Amino acid sequence: MALLPLYVFDAYGTLFDVHSAIARHRAEIGPQAARLSELWRSKQLEYTWVRSLADVYRDFEALTAESLDVAAALCGGIGDDLRDKLLDAYRHLDAFPDVAPALDALRAHGAKTAILSNGTPDMLAAAVSSAGLERCFDAVISVDALGIYKTAPEAYRLIEKKFGIGPEETSFQSSNRWDIAGARAFGLRGVWINRTGQPDEYTDLAPATVLKSLDGLPGMDV
Ligand code: LAC
Repeated sequence: MALLPLYVFDAYGTLFDVHSAIARHRAEIGPQAARLSELWRSKQLEYTWVRSLADVYRDFEALTAESLDVAAALCGGIGDDLRDKLLDAYRHLDAFPDVAPALDALRAHGAKTAILSNGTPDMLAAAVSSAGLERCFDAVISVDALGIYKTAPEAYRLIEKKFGIGPEETSFQSSNRWDIAGARAFGLRGVWINRTGQPDEYTDLAPATVLKSLDGLPGMDV
C-alpha cells in the first residue's frame, strides 16, 4: 500500500474501544453487560442518523447519555451511580493497542494524521489525552460546529477544509462499515478496519482496502 499524504481516523470503535466503558463495570452490571453495550452503541448511532435526516441537531455527548438511558431501560434499568460511572468511562475509553504504533509509524514516514469524529471537541480532547495520544494527530476534527453527523458529505468535507488535501489523496480509516460507505460516497480512499470480522455491507460503496487492525497501514511495513 503506497503512502498517501494524509490519514484520517474515525474515533469511536476505530481508535477507542467503545465497549471498554461497560467492560470496566461488567461485574456491577451482571449478565446483561454485553447486551447493554451493544444497545448503547446502536441507539447512539441511530440517534445521529435520525437527527441528521430530520435536521434537528443535538450534540454527541447528549446523544451518548440519552442512548445509555434507553439501552439501560431495555435491559431492566441501572442506578444513577452506575450511570454516572459509565458516562465518565465513555470520556476515558481505552485506545486499542495498535493505535499508537500505527500513528507513530505513519508520522515517522512524513504523513499527516487526524481524527474526524461525531464526538464533541470536549469528548475527543478527553479521550485523546486520557489515552496519551496527543502527539499522534495534526488535527482533531469534530462535526459539532456543522450540526450534522457522518455520513453527511459536509462532515467529510471538513477534512479538505482543514488540510487543503483532496479526498483522492486522503486515506480514511474506520471500523464502522457505514462510515466507510459515507467516506467512499464522498470520494475518500476508505480503509475498513474490520476488527471483529463483520460481514461486508454497502457493497456498491466498497472500501479500497480491508484490514483486521491498524497494523497493516503503510509505515509499519515500508
Ligand atoms: C465517530 C463515531 C460515531 O464518529 O464512530 O467517532
